[in-house]
Amino acid sequence: MSDTHFYNVADGHGLPHDPFKAIVAPRPIGWISTVDCQGRGNLAPYSFFNAFCDAPPIVAFASSGYKDSVRNVEETGEFVANLAVRSLAAQMNRSAAPFPQGEDEMRAVGLTPAPCRQVRASRIAESPAALECRLLRILPLEDLTGASTDTWVVFGQVVAVHIDKTFLKEGLFDTGAAQPILRAGYLADYVAVGSDTMFQMRRPRTAEEALKP
Ligand SMILES: Cc1cc2nc3c(=O)[nH]c(=O)nc-3n(C[C@H](O)[C@H](O)[C@H](O)COP(=O)(O)O)c2cc1C
Repeated sequence: MSDTHFYNVADGHGLPHDPFKAIVAPRPIGWISTVDCQGRGNLAPYSFFNAFCDAPPIVAFASSGYKDSVRNVEETGEFVANLAVRSLAAQMNRSAAPFPQGEDEMRAVGLTPAPCRQVRASRIAESPAALECRLLRILPLEDLTGASTDTWVVFGQVVAVHIDKTFLKEGLFDTGAAQPILRAGYLADYVAVGSDTMFQMRRPRTAEEALKP
């Protein structure tokens, strides 16, 4: 049997750094663009991000603290989730800096705003894919005692999708070619997906199939 490091969270992890985010990794990055009520753009990466439903498509990101992105979505009811990819990693990272409220990080980090069709926020022209989303709900997270965690989960329904045709191969979005980047491990760790790191495995349709050697 393997030797296990066990801890009750209430007692502390007893390690140099909290392993939680290294265990729940890698996490996709929602590169969230919004506008405020005056129409001023905002852009920031969120790795507490994922898809939770595909019919209809629903995504969510969580903000640790009530940040500009959440406030903008609450004000406008809209956001865009842009795909963060290897070629845009530096810009993604720079867009996380605490820019003054109202300053558009997209332009500030050298990216090109492109218009969306159903929401006012711009998408990133250089990104291989962008999801236009309408707000479903903002959920303030509480812990087991009912105390506030100061974390806000923003759920949005995807109402329109942009895909750079360069990444459409025979009608399929080529994730390996797009090379999305994901948060992994500790402070500075990332994973990039590429065709070399992808593999195929078909899901068993029956228990008999699952038990075949
Ligand atoms: C890769 C990456 C992932 C991040 N993920 C989150 C996250 O999930 N939640 C969060 O609150 N902040 C996250 N941040 C920090 C925010 O991007 C940062 O606080 C940003 O300034 C927020 O901008 P805003 O106030 O314009 O929304 C992340 C930063 C990076 C670089």
